[in-house]
Amino acid sequence: MTDSATTTTGFGYGKVILLGEHAVVYGQPAIAAGMQVGVRAHASAGAGSVRAPAWQLDLQVGDDSPVSTAVDRLCQQLGVAERSLDFWLEAEVPARAGLGSSAAMAVAIARAVAARTGAGEDDILAAAAAAESVFHKTPSGIDAAVASRGGVGRFDRAAGWQAIPVSRPIEICVGLSGQTRQTSDLVSAVAHLCQRTPVARRLIDALGELARAGMEALASGDIEALGHEFNMAHGVLSGLGVSTPELDALVRAARAAGALGAKLTGAGGGGAVIALAPGRTEEVLRRWRSLGCYGFLTVVGT
Ligand code: MEV
Repeated sequence: MTDSATTTTGFGYGKVILLGEHAVVYGQPAIAAGMQVGVRAHASAGAGSVRAPAWQLDLQVGDDSPVSTAVDRLCQQLGVAERSLDFWLEAEVPARAGLGSSAAMAVAIARAVAARTGAGEDDILAAAAAAESVFHKTPSGIDAAVASRGGVGRFDRAAGWQAIPVSRPIEICVGLSGQTRQTSDLVSAVAHLCQRTPVARRLIDALGELARAGMEALASGDIEALGHEFNMAHGVLSGLGVSTPELDALVRAARAAGALGAKLTGAGGGGAVIALAPGRTEEVLRRWRSLGCYGFLTVVGT
């Protein structure tokens, strides 16, 4: 327990899903990595305000917005009165861009609260999951797991997060389409497709296979194989209807710039792409800029 005058802080990692998004909802494994950037939350005694200037967010718990409801549930889960604290968020990841902003926010706030109450890791994860269910209805849990743990890991619904040792750090180009989207809408669209079209369900299994192959590639340091898996996964995700012309254009541009592989990351429908381009990262970022899209480099497995 801290005294009430103290400001406490917590951090949640932003994430990229390397392989296995959507399939992870159906029990398949996925590989995700925490980025260096994320969300830092500062909690101080107050009256329930939540401010994140980078997201133009300034609200009061109880105003019925999704963020307010999420913070409310998170505080309830951790046993603190939701209007007893103010939260100030330093957000380094864009919101609703496929980079795990909501999970990073939830984990950061949960950690800042836990630093006051002494709540443990399981409580933090449960609180983040409660917040995530407001945004994403029935999330697989991968976003909260990577936001809390960072590093590179394998996640499935049964076994949770298992860190994957990576032989050497991997540079990943992240390109933003600038289109925002709602993860739960994309997950529902894939579910409808699977109900109507049995072959779609087999594509889900193929994404799981690609994630398994990606683990082998990571273990052996075979970046070229990982690149091929990125390319195949993007094709499958497009087949499931979660890519967009803008994401496809970013993927094509990355490959034209010499990337070994590129794919959408996260739920799709907008958001971000990732590219594996050893020695060609500047060229990839330049091509994305020429399309009017912002990109940056992140290193995973440090
Ligand atoms: C979203 O980052 C990843 C999805 O697989 C949804 C989920 O796992 O909850 C699309």
